[in-house]
Amino acid sequence: MIEDKVIQEIKDRLDIVEVVGDFVSLKKSGSSYKALSPFTTEKTPSFFVSPSKQIFKCFSTGKGGDAIEFLKEVDSMTYIEAIKYLGEKYGVEINESESNYVVNTEKESLLIVLNKTKEFFKENLNSSDGKSIAISYFDHRNISKEMVEKFELGYSLDKWDSLYNHLIKNQFEDNQIINAGLILENNNKKYDRFRNRIIFPIHNLSGKVIAFGARIIKDEKNQPKYINSPETSLYIKSKVLYGLYQSKNNIRKEDTCYLVEGYTDVISLFQIEINNVVSSSGTSLTNEQIKLISRYTKNITILFDGDKAGIDASLRGMDLILENDMNVKIVSFPEGEDPDSYSKKVGKDKFLEFIKLNETNLINYKINLLNTKYKDDPVKKSEMIFDIVRSISKIPNSIKRSVFLKEASNLLDINEQALISEMNKLLIGKENKFSPTNNLIKEEKKEDNKTITSAINFYERECVRMLVNYGTTDFEVIGLDRKSFIDYFLNEIEDVEFENKNYLEIIEVFKREFKKDKIIDINYFLTDEFAALKDDIIDLSANKYEISKQWRDKFNIHVSEETDSLKKTTYTNILRLKFRLIRKMINDNMQNLNTSDKVNIDEETIKLHNKLKSAEIDIAKKLGNVTSV
Ligand code: UTP
Ligand code: MN
Repeated sequence: MIEDKVIQEIKDRLDIVEVVGDFVSLKKSGSSYKALSPFTTEKTPSFFVSPSKQIFKCFSTGKGGDAIEFLKEVDSMTYIEAIKYLGEKYGVEINESESNYVVNTEKESLLIVLNKTKEFFKENLNSSDGKSIAISYFDHRNISKEMVEKFELGYSLDKWDSLYNHLIKNQFEDNQIINAGLILENNNKKYDRFRNRIIFPIHNLSGKVIAFGARIIKDEKNQPKYINSPETSLYIKSKVLYGLYQSKNNIRKEDTCYLVEGYTDVISLFQIEINNVVSSSGTSLTNEQIKLISRYTKNITILFDGDKAGIDASLRGMDLILENDMNVKIVSFPEGEDPDSYSKKVGKDKFLEFIKLNETNLINYKINLLNTKYKDDPVKKSEMIFDIVRSISKIPNSIKRSVFLKEASNLLDINEQALISEMNKLLIGKENKFSPTNNLIKEEKKEDNKTITSAINFYERECVRMLVNYGTTDFEVIGLDRKSFIDYFLNEIEDVEFENKNYLEIIEVFKREFKKDKIIDINYFLTDEFAALKDDIIDLSANKYEISKQWRDKFNIHVSEETDSLKKTTYTNILRLKFRLIRKMINDNMQNLNTSDKVNIDEETIKLHNKLKSAEIDIAKKLGNVTSV
């Protein structure tokens, strides 16, 4: 146990603003500090730190507490780890004998064995094999002694079980070693996962080793270049960036993060004192990784290889970064070069100059690609234009979107309005396949208004026909108590605005009389008072079988079942009418989208669209099957 006295000493010395500041970019706000919550993916800051109270509070997750609580949450430290971390940070010595505590979590047990292993790999550098193989490899690759120390590089011996034996000798247990991914088992024989390789430890944000990457010494055909630790409860690849522990404070200082592909790229850049750099370790960038970077800066510059794979990876990464409301630039290296090789070749000043000269934003990058690669291929070219618009549509901020669109319009020499209209379609999830033959502004509606209007006319008539023919019927309505037909009907169509004014009037008369507790039928209308409605009334009282076959086929109506299932027919007819009315509103709104010339107006239109869409889905669900509407 650690003495209370020592814990108190640490608590007295620490400043929560500093502690949190190592993980989150804090901004002063009145008497406290605020930031984007490190626990969620929020867009407006709801995370506060109070220096006077020495506590943090995250309003989007409800988490809160002191500095120790923060470390437990943000970096999954245990209480003891947090105390030790703070002891180190504030120079309070914790006697080893005082910190003999019981290991009680799986993560803690993994951390201990992994960090013991890291020490072992480091010590191996001093062995004769370590010197002749690993140290000479570092020399050959021009990796300095300082970098070996900073990144805690090591060497795994060319033996089957040197690590395993070392750990067993140090009282570690088989399952602990296996869980940490250090040992493999074959026919009951255990052997080291990493053998005769350069070891790149992967650190968490507080500098503890959570995994290893291990590089082969001499490239061999049928051996993987790198072997990596498997995922564990400590090491979830999608949530880790290599080099972030070493670079996080520099990223904040520089307000930019360079993103590279490999371990050696990170180390080479650090070696020329570019120390705001992380690597996604050869896997494609994830949302969680971007979120991690966003704790320190909003600006990412991708430095990837100039080869096909590098370009594809950077394109994917860019879109994801844009979606996260961050700024992204990209630098392509000459064919065959990566940041590691290029930095070694030209040195710091020229390297930074190269970045300055070549860093481009998304639009320019894609347009360059377009101009060089797809110059003579009109199909590819138009796909690319569409692709650019799609990337822009991912930017959450509408002002930023419009700036980018303007730029794209200039550079591509395409009417800005056309690009806006195309982007708005994407924003509401109506993706059009863009092809050179259908020009950008050309309208492409899924269901034209003419069809919808004739369906509306048809279902209005059907609904009113039900009313005048069955208004006096008693029946049980789905899910409701026993009610009269008319009660149910009037209720259901209350929010429906009939387009046919005569129908509207007929319904009004039914309503008026029903309020006086009188249920009327067709005969009520056969007076001079309703002369204007006479034709409609006669038409509506026509036998159900007279509905033309053409209509029945068109709208998939089974009239013969009408009286058998009156309630169902009424229910579906009303829903079908409502469905068409909503469809029409959606189309009208779309029209609005396509003709509006300001990006900002579209926010409203998009909101309305989404509302209508969900209403449409609601009704479609009620109807049971969209295809039957
Ligand atoms: P690279 O092949 O570019 O390796 O893969 P590198 O880091 O530049 O290494 P050097 O310069 O050739 O020594 C980029 C990253 O992809 C992952 C590693 O994280 C590597 O750093 N990778 C690559 C693997 O995980 N396994 C592999 O077999 C190859
Ligand atoms: Mn490389």
